[in-house]
Formats: sequence, C-alpha cells, structure tokens
Amino acid sequence: MLPNVLQPSATDHVPVLAAEVRELLAVQPGETVVDATFGAGGHAALLAADLEGRGRFVAIDRDPSVRPYFERFRRRAGVQARLLRGDFAVVLEQLASNGVRADAILLDLGVSSMQLDRPERGFSYAVDAPLDMRMDPSREPSARDLVNEASERELQSIFRRYGEERYARQIARAIARRRRERPFERTGELVETIRAAIPAPARFGDGHPAKRVFQALRIAVNDELGSLESALPAAVRMLRPGGRLVVIAFHSLEDRIVKRFLRDLERGCVCPPDFPICVCGREPVMRALRRKAIRPTPSEVAANPRAGSARLRAAAKVG
Ligand SMILES: C[S@@+](CC[C@H](N)C(=O)[O-])C[C@H]1O[C@@H](n2cnc3c(N)ncnc32)[C@H](O)[C@@H]1O
Repeated sequence: MLPNVLQPSATDHVPVLAAEVRELLAVQPGETVVDATFGAGGHAALLAADLEGRGRFVAIDRDPSVRPYFERFRRRAGVQARLLRGDFAVVLEQLASNGVRADAILLDLGVSSMQLDRPERGFSYAVDAPLDMRMDPSREPSARDLVNEASERELQSIFRRYGEERYARQIARAIARRRRERPFERTGELVETIRAAIPAPARFGDGHPAKRVFQALRIAVNDELGSLESALPAAVRMLRPGGRLVVIAFHSLEDRIVKRFLRDLERGCVCPPDFPICVCGREPVMRALRRKAIRPTPSEVAANPRAGSARLRAAAKVG
C-alpha cells in the first residue's frame, strides 16, 4: 500500500542511533541546529525538543516529498524552523558563505524508509516500478538514463566501486546487450537482467541478487559521495567554536570519507618529525568526541534492520 504523503505518521522512518545523536549533539536552549538530512524529521523532533522552545532549527533535504513531514515538525517544534530544499553540499555552502553559524549539525546519510517504500521512486528492487532513484526528481541523471546511456565500462566500474559487486563485469555486459534490443524502463527489467547474468548459485546467496547493483546505481545517480565530500568542509565552516558535527554513514566508502576528513582536521602540526621546531603552525580544527565509529547495538538492529550498517562519527569544533 502506498503511504499517504499528506498524513505522515510517526512510524514512517525510525531514526537510527537516536540516543547517541542526541547525546553527542548535546543541543542546548537558544542554539542553532541544522539537520542537513531532514527525511521524516525523526532526529529533528528529538533535537528540537532539546531547544526547549528557544533557538533556531534549519532543516535541509533535496527531496521535495519531505515537505508534509516538515510542516508537521514545524507545528510541533515550538521554535523557529525553516526548510531549505536542495543538495546539502550546496545549501551548507550558501549558509556558510552568508555568515549563518550553527551549534549542532547532523548528516544522516543515504535514503529514508519513505523513499524506499514508495515504489514509484524506483529505489527498490523488490517491486516493479519506473527506473528512477533520484532523491531530487528535478535533477538528472535518473537511473534510467545511467542504465541506458553509460558505457559498459562505466557501469562495470559503478557496480564494482559503489556496490562491491563481484559480477560487475557480467552484469554490465548483460545490460549493454539487453539495451541494444530496447531501452530499460522499469526496475523489474533490470532485476531480471541481473538475475540472468550471475551464476545460478550466487542468485541465492548473500541477500537479493540485485541489492548491490541497486545500491551502486543509487549512489551514482545522486552523486552521494561527491555531495558528502563537498558538504563536510562547508559544515565545519558553519560551526561556531564548540559546535558539534555528527555524521551517520551506511556505506564503507562514505564512512571512509568522513573518517579521513575528521582525522585530518583533528591533527595539529604536520611538520616532519625531524624538524626541531614547528614551521607549519597548523592547529587542530576539530576534536573527536569519540575515537572510534559508534555502531548500533544488536537490539537496535533487531528492532530496525536498516540500522545494521550504520557508523556514526562525531567531532566538535575547537575554540
Ligand atoms: C536517512 S534519511 C534521514 C532520516 C532522518 N534523519 C529522520 O530521522 O527522519 C536521509 C535523507 O537525506 C536526504 N538526503 C540524502 N542526501 C542528501 C543530499 N546530498 N542533500 C540533501 N538531502 C539529502 C534524503 O532525501 C533523505 O530524506
């Protein structure tokens, strides 16, 4: 059944690592909070509650369908709240350049349950639907464009890099062969082609045979890694001294980007060890709030399997 977008329900999306997000962002009354991945507003509701009626809330999402969730949030938030629609890489950069400063910024990456559960968005391999996968339906390319227009080599590299798909070459070849007859239009056609391209025993192993290719296409269609790389420096620029940044990643490539970025800013002097004195003058910009990535507990994963691959990293701006 299609969810009713005009009547969002509290069960639409279970916020991942919610208690940890709340503890690490440690929002205080009067502060400015930025939720750069608003979704259904699950984390937002918790963080807004910590403002206790005083402060500002900025919600960002590139998906226009979050609007009814935001309207519900705004009615209940009790603080000044606004929704900025767009890629967080662009919006955070604009806010930072306009001198907007934040005390707490959250990035809960990837797709929401509502996006996965709406068949017409084409994110799911489980239902036949138009091949789309765009978080922002006004942007190009769609999954249809990529599957029909990218070269066989490009497809292979997308499947291997973003999906760690063992049979990337076979699947890319099968797609190239199939689209010479007629272009792909629907998720079901792609699932069938993937299924037929991989060896029979692999069709029954490790989850759905199309899972990794769908994940890879989604990451490529939405340029998820590119957006993250650009957003992180903008988020740090926006933070006030003492401001906190929390990022939840669901893919090892995303987590690696976050980990390297924060490690780099947590370092001070980068002079060679044999220099008698520091000549670089570099000071740490961020301080880790936890040394290691935080993973969900087994009971959270049992209650919300989507949390299974989550890794949370948190740091505060030095100052
Ligand atoms: C995992 S969901 C967030 C769920 C949210 N924390 C909650 O508790 O309801 C991720 C959301 O971020 C949005 N998103 C992902 N990448 C984005 C980007 N580059 N710019 C803006 N929004 C993005 C998606 O559209 C989706 O709504």
